[in-house]
Amino acid sequence: MKRTEIKKLLERTDFGSLVNVKGWVRTKRGSKNVAFIALNDGSTIKNVQVVVDRNEDNTELLEQVNTGASLSVDGTLLESAGSGQKVEVHATNIELLGKADPNEYPLQPKKHSLEFLREKAHLRFRTNTFSAVARIRHSMIFAIHKFFTEEGFFNIHTPIITASDAEGAGEMFQVSTLDLNDIPKTEDGAVDFKQDFFGKAANLTVSGQLEAELGALALSKVYTFGPTFRAENSNTTRHLAEFWMIEPEVAFCDIYEDMDLAEDMLKYVIQYALDHCMDDLEFLSKRLQDEEKNKKADERSMELIEKLKFVLDKPFERITYTEAINILRNSKPNKKKKFQFPIDGWGADLQSEHERYLVEKHFKKPVILTDYPRDIKAFYMKQNDDGKTVRAMDVLFPQIGEIIGGSQREDDYDKLQQRMIEMDIPQESMWWYLETRKFGSVPHAGFGLGFERLILFLTGMGNIRDVIAFPRTPLNCEF
Ligand code: 4AD
Ligand code: MG
Repeated sequence: MKRTEIKKLLERTDFGSLVNVKGWVRTKRGSKNVAFIALNDGSTIKNVQVVVDRNEDNTELLEQVNTGASLSVDGTLLESAGSGQKVEVHATNIELLGKADPNEYPLQPKKHSLEFLREKAHLRFRTNTFSAVARIRHSMIFAIHKFFTEEGFFNIHTPIITASDAEGAGEMFQVSTLDLNDIPKTEDGAVDFKQDFFGKAANLTVSGQLEAELGALALSKVYTFGPTFRAENSNTTRHLAEFWMIEPEVAFCDIYEDMDLAEDMLKYVIQYALDHCMDDLEFLSKRLQDEEKNKKADERSMELIEKLKFVLDKPFERITYTEAINILRNSKPNKKKKFQFPIDGWGADLQSEHERYLVEKHFKKPVILTDYPRDIKAFYMKQNDDGKTVRAMDVLFPQIGEIIGGSQREDDYDKLQQRMIEMDIPQESMWWYLETRKFGSVPHAGFGLGFERLILFLTGMGNIRDVIAFPRTPLNCEF
């Protein structure tokens, strides 16, 4: 018999039909005469209840139906008498596909800590929390492609292996086939990359932006959605060494239109989640409330679904970095020395505690900060006439801080070259980037959305390691 996925099965009303379901056992309970098996196949957060009449023939089999075991069940679709679900399957035949020894299977039907589950990442997809996150992740990938397609963008694939450092921050993983135990050296003792696979030093990309710019300067509107890699040694709840980034790039576009695009995109995908992921969001909302029930009222986060709607309701606040510094300097936590990094002058980079203060306490909505000091931003950003700031824009979100970083790009050849010299960006390896400013240069802008930070926000999960299936962080490359 053809398998029906549980998501589809739960919507059926043709009671009396014979059906087949397959899945993994979440729980088994019951009495002497009857067993109730909660079966889940990942198609939805909901389980289907399988009812089995115990008899001599199935006693042995039912003993092996433990949490984690996989089953194929033939049975009759019936209207459920129990509350909470509309249908159940009255089993006529059960096949045990794979056993799970209860003395060994780590995921027992009780609450496990997220830390424990991180060590069982090969199995954690089978929990409600991680399957919900995985389904929402999928929906967001789809929604992002849908948004950009509807807006007339073309998706381009930018390289994963590259010889340039797009952010100029030197946080790159090297890619080499040289024998690390016997590295060829040049006469002056440096590594001889001429003998390496590409004949030059190469690394994993930190951003697809530079190549996306090349695309935009021909196709007008492009975006990349790819993995990016950063060898920054930050062990925080918001940093990964391998993460996914969405980077649109638009020709004939300034920083204001760039901000509009960022706001429209975020609102579109959040609305999409509300329209298509409600079962999972409701589960995650309860999970969060449960986790925070011992916190003081003012330390609890806003209810998840309310928080998503809250972001949709109002226009994001748009202020300059300089205005933000003034607000922060005069803020209560700064005066009372509550910030870990006190704000005393103009020019320092903002920490997430500052970003979150602006969003959660001061404006009580997402904030877009623009016109940052040029010395804390990348070489490619368009310089303002004041000689001090650049046309950068960062979108700051509740709970997350920076979710998007973007800018209008420097489209003037001389200014870009000057900035590259000042910031020690090697021109030899980026001649192609400079050359676009020589031939038909136009104003253009773009941004990067950290995909996992978006998922953190949408799911209310507290640690970025829990919104990607197999997180890569310093000293952690298991699975
Ligand atoms: O602000 P970033 O470094 O900007 C860029 O890479 C630009 N090239 C984007 C562009 O204009 N096309 O990174 C963009 C976003 C951040 O706002 C953050 O959401 C996310 O990427 N991000 C990280 N997410 C997880 N782990 C990390 N280590 C991240 N670093 C940045
Ligand atoms: Mg940034």
